[in-house]
Order: sequence, then structure tokens, then C-alpha cells
Amino acid sequence: MLRSARSVSAPPSGVVALRSLVALLPAVWLVACGTGADRAEPASPETGQRPAGVSPLFEPLPAEAPAPADNPTTAERVDLGHKLFFEPKLSRSGVISCNTCHVVGAAGIDARHVAIGEGAREGTRNSPTVFNAAFLKAQFWDGRAPTLEEQAMGPIQAHVEMDLTPVEAVARLDSAGYGPFFAAAFPDDADALTFENVAKAIAAFERTLLTPGAPFDRYLAGDESALTDAQKEGLKLFQDAGCVGCHNGAMLGGSGFAGFSHAQGKGDMGRAAVTQEAIDNYVFRIAPLRNVALTGPYFHDGSVRSLQEAVEVMGNSQLKRRFTAEEVASIVAFLEALTGEFPLITHPRLPRASGVSR
Ligand code: HEC
Ligand code: HEC
Repeated sequence: MLRSARSVSAPPSGVVALRSLVALLPAVWLVACGTGADRAEPASPETGQRPAGVSPLFEPLPAEAPAPADNPTTAERVDLGHKLFFEPKLSRSGVISCNTCHVVGAAGIDARHVAIGEGAREGTRNSPTVFNAAFLKAQFWDGRAPTLEEQAMGPIQAHVEMDLTPVEAVARLDSAGYGPFFAAAFPDDADALTFENVAKAIAAFERTLLTPGAPFDRYLAGDESALTDAQKEGLKLFQDAGCVGCHNGAMLGGSGFAGFSHAQGKGDMGRAAVTQEAIDNYVFRIAPLRNVALTGPYFHDGSVRSLQEAVEVMGNSQLKRRFTAEEVASIVAFLEALTGEFPLITHPRLPRASGVSR
């Protein structure tokens, strides 16, 4: 099954090494300045040296998400994207926003097995978290959107999600008083309130939804006390059993695809629906595992409730290996060390709150 575990666009290894080095710098700086004060125990030093035995396939989560040249992350764009993310007028009924299915105060998910959108219609897939999506090389369970900008146009138009046409969306935002916010966020555009700019602003906001500082990142930065013994045991097993062959990089997934035999016969063909190639039947994006302890239910169809069971399924379907209960527990303990620090996201003040529009 590893035949189909191919990478979409792995950066050349020199780029990876450089990025890892740059990403380590802020961690070293933090320790030097003694600002790790909110931790209960004073941690052992983050030496910048990866502890012995840790696979070079892992990378720390970068502190910032790079923006594409045509959509710089400016304060005005982030502010507008923040409003739009919470804007229920972007759905036909006026009650569903991005935050309905990606609750940013609760790990960026809806905690349902599959999403419910417009007209209480059930979708067929589980809502993945929006946190750290900026680092994914392919968006969606089948990787069909390459960028956050492209992704954001999907749900607004999807019949089972928000169900608006681009023209309707723009007209609604216009009458809701968004004009000046678009003008400020896109000062070079004569016509700033466009559907394309809706997507750009939302993507700029999403690039701020990052969760650095997970115990695993501190461990990678050389703080050997950041993981418990059980977590270190789980990390070893995650590497030795072969999970790391698929779940690697800064997101422990999110950049390649693999066959998922567990999906066979359940109707979702995965990537084959995107590429129209039989070889991609039941191939899905290798799921990213950042914050996975908080993002159940699991798998593209949300068919598995517990992380324990998800690990067992992975062992059986991807590695033909049956783990003991202790082995499952230690892998789960390791996965819990991938939970980072979530930023506080407030509910924004929407334009009509100023009373100038409907
Ligand atoms: C009705 C629930 C619902 C709404 C509303 C919704 N989403 Fe989603 N979102 C989903 C589901 C389900 C998926 C996965 C779909 C798939 O893979 O085919 C998804 C996928 C995503 C992803 C990809 C993450 C990944 O890991 O691949 C991002 C980013 C995202 N949504 C952002 C948004 C934004 C921005 C909005 C508002 C414009 C939004 N969503 C509205 C349910 C929803
Ligand atoms: C051959 C590649 C491959 C290997 C090896 C692999 N996985 Fe996965 N993993 C995937 C794919 C693909 C998915 C997404 C499945 C889907 O679409 O539902 C996934 C999903 C997951 C999920 C669910 C994530 C979520 O958000 O729903 C967990 C947890 C997980 N893997 C853990 C592991 C562990 C632990 C191991 C080792 C025992 C492992 N995986 C081995 C490819 C792999």
C-alpha cells in the first residue's frame, strides 16, 4: 500500500533543512529571554539539538505561515477575513458561518461525524480542523484544493454547506456594509469587493490560526523533559512501526496520499473522484495529526469515535499490524503531545453592528 504514498510537492531537502533551522530560532530566543514562564515546571533547556533517535522526517511547526506573493498577510486582510469567517450572511439561510463547522474556540471542528449545513443537509465527510491548515500542501480529505484561497470558495457555494452563488455572496456583503473593509484590505483594487477577495481575506485570517508550542515541538527543540516516558515510548513505536513513513513533516501528514483499505465499499472513492484514475480508488490525503487528540471523530467519514480505535485501524489497514492495548496507549500518549497552544480568537464585531447597514 506504500506504492501510493506519494508526495504532492515535497520541497527540496535543502529548503526543509533551512526552514527547520529558521523555525528553531524563535524557540531558542524564547528560552534565552526566559519567557517560558507560563509553564508549570521550568523546562530543561531547549538546546536546539534534536534528541537522539528522533526521525529526521519530523519538522517543528513553523511559528508563521508563509503567504503567497499575491495575498500578503496584512492586518486589514486578517481583520476582514476574521469577520467573514464568522459571517452567517455567507449562507443562504443566514445562520451558518465557517465557524459553525470549524468552531475556532473548540479546536476548529464541529465534533460531528459528518458536517450538517444548509437546510440541515448532511454532508458525507467529517469537518477537519482549520488550525494549521495553512501548512497543508493539499486541502480537503482528497486534497482537491491546492491553496487556502481556492479552498475558501468551495464551502460558500456547496449545496450542503452554505449554498450561495458568488454573485449573491458579494451582493449580500455589499448591503451588509462590508465595502469600506474590502477597500482597506485591498487598497490597490479598483473593485475591491469581489468573490476572489472574499477568499483571499479568509485565507489571510486562516494563516493566523496556528498552534505552536506543542510538547513535541519543544522536544524536537531539545527539551528532553517535554515528553513523558509513555510519550517517548509512543514516539519510538510510531517510528519503528512505520507510521512516520506516511505521517511526517511539520504536520505529520497533509502532503501526500495513500490508499485506505478501511474505506473500501463505503461509497467514498476518495482521490479517484478528483483524478478520474482507477489507481486512486480509496486513496485519501494522509491526514495531518497536529492536535489530533482534540479533533475526533476520526477519518474522512468520521466513522471512528476514539483515538484508540483510530490507531488500531491504522495499524491493521496501513501496516497489517495488530497492536497490544499497551502499544495503542503509548501511541495515543505520543499523539497527545501534538496538541499545541491555541490562540484566543474573539467573536468579531460585524459591520452591521455599527448600525449603518442591514
Ligand atoms: C457545513 C459545514 C461546513 C461549513 C459551513 C464550512 N466547512 Fe470547511 N469543511 C467542512 C468539511 C466537511 C470539510 C471536508 C470536506 C472534504 O474533504 O471534502 C471542510 C474542509 C475545510 C478545510 C480543509 C482543511 C483540511 O484539512 O483539508 C478548510 C481550510 C475549511 N474547510 C475552511 C472553511 C471556511 C473558510 C469556511 C467558510 C467559508 C468553511 N470551511 C465552511 C465543513 C464545513
Ligand atoms: C500508508 C500510509 C499510512 C500509514 C503507514 C499510517 N497512516 Fe494514518 N492515515 C493515513 C491516511 C491516508 C489517513 C486518512 C484516512 C481517511 O481518509 O480517513 C490516515 C489517518 C490517520 C488518523 C486519523 C486522523 C484524523 O484526523 O481523522 C490517525 C490518528 C492516524 N492516521 C494515525 C496513524 C498511526 C498511529 C499510524 C501507525 C500505526 C499510521 N497512522 C500509519 C495514512 C497512513
